[in-house]
Amino acid sequence: MRIFLDTANIEQIRQGAKLGVVGGVTTNPSLMMKEGLADYEAAVKEICSIIAGPVSVEVVSEEPAEMLKQARKMAKWAPNVIIKIPATLAGLEVTSTLAKEKIKVNLTLCFSLNQAILGATAGAAFISPFVGRLDDIGHNGMELVEDIVTVYDYYNYATEVIAASIRHPQHCIAAAKAGAHIATVPYSVLIQMMQHPLTDNGVARFMADWKSAAQKSKK
Ligand code: E4P
Repeated sequence: MRIFLDTANIEQIRQGAKLGVVGGVTTNPSLMMKEGLADYEAAVKEICSIIAGPVSVEVVSEEPAEMLKQARKMAKWAPNVIIKIPATLAGLEVTSTLAKEKIKVNLTLCFSLNQAILGATAGAAFISPFVGRLDDIGHNGMELVEDIVTVYDYYNYATEVIAASIRHPQHCIAAAKAGAHIATVPYSVLIQMMQHPLTDNGVARFMADWKSAAQKSKK
């Protein structure tokens, strides 16, 4: 399973890139606004210069003609830009058109298997089921990821599944077990994925033993 960072924070993206495990980035209008990135284009270009893999950038319109206009413009910002389109009827229409133009789409805000089937049929390169937001309303978000992976495998759809709206490390484990191609995670979750108290205790003990043995050998 590949790991994408779900953030528009440039410093977090730089830190993640240093670890060598971040294969892409997903942004959305809320994440962009959180960082106060008024110049959308400049911010996206900077992110694309740090991360060579897919960088998802979302259109901000609900009207197909305007969505298409924005998507075509954004797709020119960098070769690794992926256009995020919401899983609405208008979004489906736009996805079909962009796919024909070889512009890659990440169909976002996916909350049902039917949306995922139609997105793949329309030619979306990625589908983003929102796990955490489904959990929030008492559904099992990861079950949707499992269902999409099963059905896509069954019909050999080329669309890749991005487990999105990830809230904690257990979501990452479940996404990997479900066969998601990608998990897009907040920076805090990426850090948590690597942390374990027994590793920290083990390192501390090895260091202490090493120091005391070295002191004894000096005597
Ligand atoms: C994915 O591409 C979205 O940006 C993101 O995962 C949304 O997550 P949230 O539910 O934490 O806002």
